[in-house]
Amino acid sequence: MKKMGIECTFVDQTLPLEELEKYIKPNTKAIFGETITNPTVQVLDIEKFSLLAHKHGVPLIIDNTFATPINCRPFEWGADIVTHSTTKYIDGHGISVGGCIVDSGNFDWDKYADKFPGLTTPDESYHGITYTKQFGKGAYITKATAQLMRDFGSIQSPQNAFYINAGLETLHLRMEKHCENALEVAKFLKEQDKVAWVHYSDLEDDVNHELAKKYLPKGSCGVLAFAIKGGRDASVTFMDKLKLISIVTHVADSKSCLLHPASHTHRQLSDSQLIESDISPDLIRLSVGIENIDDIINDLKQALASI
Ligand SMILES: Cc1ncc(COP(=O)(O)O)c(C=O)c1O
Repeated sequence: MKKMGIECTFVDQTLPLEELEKYIKPNTKAIFGETITNPTVQVLDIEKFSLLAHKHGVPLIIDNTFATPINCRPFEWGADIVTHSTTKYIDGHGISVGGCIVDSGNFDWDKYADKFPGLTTPDESYHGITYTKQFGKGAYITKATAQLMRDFGSIQSPQNAFYINAGLETLHLRMEKHCENALEVAKFLKEQDKVAWVHYSDLEDDVNHELAKKYLPKGSCGVLAFAIKGGRDASVTFMDKLKLISIVTHVADSKSCLLHPASHTHRQLSDSQLIESDISPDLIRLSVGIENIDDIINDLKQALASI
């Protein structure tokens, strides 16, 4: 985003509202958060951030990829715009890359017109229309599709849209199974001597459980985080022994898959930079699929036995 002239201020999402306010800058245009963070699986207090955003005249944008619309509906908690990587649960089978933006139409761009000239002043590249005047509640999503998709070219092919729609039709069934399996796996991992810690908000003693009860009452998702005692080396040995669970960057799929960010997606970062990003070097992200639960647990068992 920096290369596009967009600066981000990262904040500790557990801070109280009064502390978070200190991070709002005169040029802040939006607040962005994930319902469930990837890869640390923390649950966002969406209402707190919607209060913060609206007090400062900016929209709250929520990435709801992990929770999916089945388990969380962020508009009901004050979010203005929701995004999904549809590549994940919505597709569910890793066959089509895509994303979507869902606009509630609730944010009043005209009230903060100076901050959002792209929506509140004429667009010469589009017949001189002013999106808020012409489209009202549909201003943002119309600008996104009519102007930005045109200019950036991020347009999905019909075949990819077809795959994603086929996945979407079974999302409600899959999410139920993902949550059921992930809770079993989380409970199993918690009991293992070789496991250092487990984070999964559906566990009653998890630090995020209270937030999960509020925002994700039907269950969170299939993704959990855990660590093997012995840090990086033990994690790598453990992963090499897995037979059913794939080691891939992809996540939130019907098939169980796993990633060790410190040696994969985040390998450019030193241990101290990882800790600063709240990703401990020993963290393993396990995305529990919808296979038979015994098969998943047996795979983890045999890999643990080998270290
Ligand atoms: C929560 C979340 N949001 C967005 C993305 C970006 O997804 P895509 O690669 O489909 O653009 C990812 C990818 O890992 C993700 O996990």
